[in-house]
Amino acid sequence: MRVPLIVGNWKMHGLRDEARALARAVHEGVRNLHGREVGIAPPFTALATVAEALAGSAVLLGAQNMHWEERGAFTGEISPLMLRDAGCRFVILGHSERRQYFGEDDASVHRKVRAALAHELAPIVCVGETLSEREAGQTLDVVGRQVRGALLGLQADAIRHVVVAYEPVWAIGTGRVATPQQAQEVHCWIRNVLAETFGSVAEEVRILYGGSVKPENIDELMTEADIDGALVGGASLQAESFVRIAGFVSAGPGR
Ligand code: PGA
Repeated sequence: MRVPLIVGNWKMHGLRDEARALARAVHEGVRNLHGREVGIAPPFTALATVAEALAGSAVLLGAQNMHWEERGAFTGEISPLMLRDAGCRFVILGHSERRQYFGEDDASVHRKVRAALAHELAPIVCVGETLSEREAGQTLDVVGRQVRGALLGLQADAIRHVVVAYEPVWAIGTGRVATPQQAQEVHCWIRNVLAETFGSVAEEVRILYGGSVKPENIDELMTEADIDGALVGGASLQAESFVRIAGFVSAGPGR
């Protein structure tokens, strides 16, 4: 059984006071929800503040990026040890904005995934096609290549700690959400790719959908068998909408 997971990706938003208030409101809002996990990923500068605000809370703290080395001459980078030290339990890796603006590729994502697992940080590996790739009928190829590129060579045992987030680039921040059927098709494909490579552990891997997830569409998305949660950007910046998303009411056949 896969426990659904709802994660807020705050991106480059949240000064410390705002971050503290939002984290507290999320904690309060989700404390009576059961049968799911909830996480938030503030910017690095707010991690300590949010960790403090979440003390004693079941809400998981995570980061939005990470270097693969533990320490060294890597100006401007943050290591897995530092994230653990700050109280992080997961890290978002290979987000399309990082691939698009900061030159991340499957090889660097792979190194980061390995490092995260070695430090007991659950990697949330983001994959997804652009609009032109979808229109050219390349969605499954692109996503399959990204999944293999990030994970090939890992032990099957480690794979159960990995979370994959399918985020079609054309749906991120655009208000244009994939239909539940479009998302399910790709989620199912991702699980097949994982099964081919790693065997039955694929059934344990959580696959999140991301891209304009809102209170209005989460329930329907969560009815699909292979959608195990959501990675939420814009709608995670307001406690009310994020708490509503975390409180999704439908349960798919996989749950
Ligand atoms: P969005 O972002 O919910 O604002 O579309 C999702 C993401 O980029 O993780």
